[in-house]
Amino acid sequence: MALKGLENNDLKLIIFGGKGGVGKTSCAIATALKLAENSRTLLISTDPAHSVSDCLEQPVGFRVVQVNSNPNLSAIEVVADEALSSFKTEHKAALKKLLETSTNLDNEDIDEMMALSIPGIDEVMSFKTIIDFIDEGNFDKYVVDTAPTGHALRLIASPKLLDEWIKVAARMRWKYRYMITAFSGSYQQDDVDAFLLSLKKTVKRIENMLKDSDKCEFVPVCIPEAMAILETGRLLTDLESSGIVARQIIVNHVNESDGCDFCKRRKAGQLPYLQEINTTFGSLNKVEVPVFTEEIKGMEALGRLKGILFG
Ligand SMILES: Nc1ncnc2c1ncn2[C@@H]1O[C@H](COP(=O)(O)OP(=O)(O)OP(=O)(O)O)[C@@H](O)[C@H]1O
Ligand SMILES: [Mg+2]
Repeated sequence: MALKGLENNDLKLIIFGGKGGVGKTSCAIATALKLAENSRTLLISTDPAHSVSDCLEQPVGFRVVQVNSNPNLSAIEVVADEALSSFKTEHKAALKKLLETSTNLDNEDIDEMMALSIPGIDEVMSFKTIIDFIDEGNFDKYVVDTAPTGHALRLIASPKLLDEWIKVAARMRWKYRYMITAFSGSYQQDDVDAFLLSLKKTVKRIENMLKDSDKCEFVPVCIPEAMAILETGRLLTDLESSGIVARQIIVNHVNESDGCDFCKRRKAGQLPYLQEINTTFGSLNKVEVPVFTEEIKGMEALGRLKGILFG
């Protein structure tokens, strides 16, 4: 079997996820290479470990760079800290005014508060970066390589978290509005309101994109081992409850060789797990990837993986 439907014109966002070390980065890059044959493709890594550079054998970093001189394929490794500091710089005035008008904090406290790290902010910033790229519309396909499962799930939950913050900020603002109206009889919307409204629109855009099964697809990567199967099951349940579609699964590291005693044993040991994958994830299109004799690094190995994934 091969991966299907990823070339459909409507499909914009393809997210790879799964347990640590199962082959997410390798499969995301091989997929991006395939899609770049016919579409302008941007490969985005949200993994702080940033192994895309290593796998491509080319420096990437937090800027869009062309991959392997291919005009159809670019890549970027999102650095959440940098995304957050440019967000703060861009919206500093509105953020400060929000705190000034809705709290009793003085200037010094506000500066300290703005420097604090907020739980979940990395994923929020990563997803905002992705959606900003999609909005710019310079590419037809956006292929996302995520860090192990927990991070992917936080990434998916990030619009909800952002929405919670906006609600709190709006409540704080409401009191301010009430006071202004009480004293001056009317209230004019200001730049803080505009800022909160634009954040709210960002949340809506992310949610609409994630929940649109024509536009977004999640591709879980698994290996035939007990822990990986359990984690994939939990991931699929969470995806379903978030309304995100997964139509296919990649089963990596499959031992196919009977060449030596060790290989035979490895193969026999994987058999029950492959059967379990068939029954547990039977509704998904399944693509098996054999164990390569060497690590998947560089264009030659990635090209071979692309051939296996897409037939
Ligand atoms: N089918 C395979 N055969 C041999 N080596 C593989 C195969 N798939 C992946 N690898 C190797 O396994 C290692 C982990 O792969 P990869 O980085 O793609 O996984 P990952 O899921 O992205 O890992 P992480 O969770 O750390 O981000 C890499 O060294 C890669 O080259
Ligand atoms: Mg990886």
